[in-house]
Amino acid sequence: MFINSFAPILNESMGFKADDRIRRAIARDRKYMLTTTKEDFPLVVQKASGDYIHDISGNRFIDFSTFISVYNFGGNSRKEVREAIVKQIDLLMHNAFTDYYSEGPVNFAESLLKMLPNGFGKVFFSNSGTEANEAALKFARIFTKREYVLAFYGAFHGRTYGSLSMTASKTVQRAGVGPLGPVVHAPYAYCYRCPFKLEYPSCGMACVDYIKKYPLSKEIPANETAAIFMEPIQGEGGYVVPPKEFVKGMREIADDNGMLLVDDEVQAGYMRTGKFLALDNFGVKADIYTFAKSIGAGLPLGVTVTRSSLGDLKPGSHANTFGGNAAVVAGADALLGYVRRNMVRIESGVKERSRIAMKRLNEMKENYEIVGDVRGIGLMIGIEIVKDKKSKIPGVKERDAIIKRAFESGLVLLPAGECSIRIIPQLEIDKKVLEKGLDILEETIRKVSLTA
Ligand SMILES: Cc1ncc(COP(=O)(O)O)c(C=O)c1O
Repeated sequence: MFINSFAPILNESMGFKADDRIRRAIARDRKYMLTTTKEDFPLVVQKASGDYIHDISGNRFIDFSTFISVYNFGGNSRKEVREAIVKQIDLLMHNAFTDYYSEGPVNFAESLLKMLPNGFGKVFFSNSGTEANEAALKFARIFTKREYVLAFYGAFHGRTYGSLSMTASKTVQRAGVGPLGPVVHAPYAYCYRCPFKLEYPSCGMACVDYIKKYPLSKEIPANETAAIFMEPIQGEGGYVVPPKEFVKGMREIADDNGMLLVDDEVQAGYMRTGKFLALDNFGVKADIYTFAKSIGAGLPLGVTVTRSSLGDLKPGSHANTFGGNAAVVAGADALLGYVRRNMVRIESGVKERSRIAMKRLNEMKENYEIVGDVRGIGLMIGIEIVKDKKSKIPGVKERDAIIKRAFESGLVLLPAGECSIRIIPQLEIDKKVLEKGLDILEETIRKVSLTA
């Protein structure tokens, strides 16, 4: 079917109606696909361009989801990225990078290392976020010769066994598949719902003390713990931004006990917060960084980067067939080139768009009882929906209703955590489109508030 790229953004007065083609596509998906995490709105995608997603029936939606945080630089990535991929595909798709030498992946590794702190390092390629973390976990254990890992409630590091052992976001993700690996979880600094019922900063960072006093004193010997795995901002867990002291506290605990700090930049990284590394917002450096999602520019790529002083690994100690794939890396290198050439402009653009979005969202927080919290750095922003501000009871139904109705009005949003919504448009979104998306969101919140 012809897709009209000038199709109007949907609005509720027109009302989104799933036509036969959409209904059929969804029915066939449900019939044949074993398990998914699809949301409860009938988005059957056909193409993406810049700020928009187009469905198979010619509807156009503003994208505040970046296809689950993958298209940081616009739907279907940039033209030069697609051209680099096509050029490489014509030459060679699969390069067997674990067994044969090739220049492309090494060029990309060299370029990536220029974005990391001095002293990094060594690069390992895989195909996804979970694999990047799986590799980091194995490397941390090999480097330290220690067994245990400390991770956080609310964390999402992936779904394969090692990464899943560190994930503690929703029980459904772990149910029925145990036993999992030797990972102990501690509360993350989720200040809006402090597990200790304290308030920042008068809490004195009780969550940092807790880790020292409980998991590391009573459960896993600190000197047998290989690493602390953390997201600098929790993503799937609800877009939770910790105070700087928390992140610094983790660095100190790691240093005091000879553990490594592994920083999962899969969702928060790659300029999303305005900086290449989200961890840089906290003035902390890690020992191992992991990336996926946007670093692949739309193709599957996981990257694990280790500090040089950790040394090397025995040949054969870890590998995979497609890591460093020629076509994937060609696209990733083209996008990274764009990012490096435009760093300053991108960073200030993210800050400017963040200010616009935060101002509007904080006004919504003032005006609507169901908007409990607004938080984020750069364009990684979460809003938490509650029954009312005082009780803070999670507004799960309200959150789901907002996402569904916003979709029907032409805006694609994704949930996070128990009752939050993520606002993650592409980093160079047209400011008028950003405002339009925020208008749709506000109108939807207004309507849902009235029925709440
Ligand atoms: C922070 C973080 N780490 C790891 C992953 C897992 O990535 P993948 O789905 O590519 O395995 C995700 C996915 O959402 C993530 O947000």
